[in-house]
Amino acid sequence: MSSTGVTPRSPIGVFDSGVGGLSVLREIRRALPHEDLVYVADSGHAPYGDQPSEFIEGRASAVVQFLLGTGAKAITVACNTATVVAVEKLRAWSPVPIVAIEPAIKPAATATKSGAIGVLATRQTLASANVARLCAQYGQNVKIHLQPCPGFVEQVERADLASARTRELVVQYVAPLVAQGVDTLVLGCTHYPFLEPLIREVAGPGVLVIDPAAAVARELGRRLDGAALRAPPDRAGNAAFFSSGDLAHARFVMPRLWGENIEVQALPAGNAAPPP
Ligand code: DGL
Repeated sequence: MSSTGVTPRSPIGVFDSGVGGLSVLREIRRALPHEDLVYVADSGHAPYGDQPSEFIEGRASAVVQFLLGTGAKAITVACNTATVVAVEKLRAWSPVPIVAIEPAIKPAATATKSGAIGVLATRQTLASANVARLCAQYGQNVKIHLQPCPGFVEQVERADLASARTRELVVQYVAPLVAQGVDTLVLGCTHYPFLEPLIREVAGPGVLVIDPAAAVARELGRRLDGAALRAPPDRAGNAAFFSSGDLAHARFVMPRLWGENIEVQALPAGNAAPPP
């Protein structure tokens, strides 16, 4: 047992502003099949993307407290917006490692042949110092188009992945980028991989779409190995799901996005309230 009381059999906590982080959780499940997982969808407060930083920090901190209360040995911030706003503060006090996701600007800048990439993300993420730093670092010879996508998170929160309205939004944000020569698109919000089939269809076969979720799962595996905390390979890991949103709605949406029947529990009231 480590000084924090966690063991290799302790679960991994994963959270997002809502259901989008399930796109990261599925990569974690694939890469680390023996781990127990606890997922929190903070859907009662989604989208984070247009909220002030203090609100997002307060929510991220309440959710991480809850995950630590479940005995989590590591936390994954499966939300680009929460990462850019809150991860440094979370790392300052969390007793366990925190692995976070950020837009895959570096791989996109390396992969582009046309010299133009598009980053699809929330307004908060695109306005962040992290993205400014990544653009300065990798944007010297590459034109980087930053495209906020208001409405995408809401469509995914409704599991509305293919309606005429969803398609209209995808065309609105993606078609102008392709018209400007973009050949590589970064999914800079964890909700967007659920729209990837539509994004690919609108962008066309010549456009590469990059989702960093699998890289996050690999990094999490490396961190567990580094701390000698990887679960023993003696059984399949299980997963528990919590939501701060309307429970009937969460029980409709989350199994559809996860792809199998799952039980969704209410996030306890103390962690579900908005920050003061
Ligand atoms: N999935 C979150 C992200 O990766 C969505 C943010 C939001 O709720 O606006 O940024």
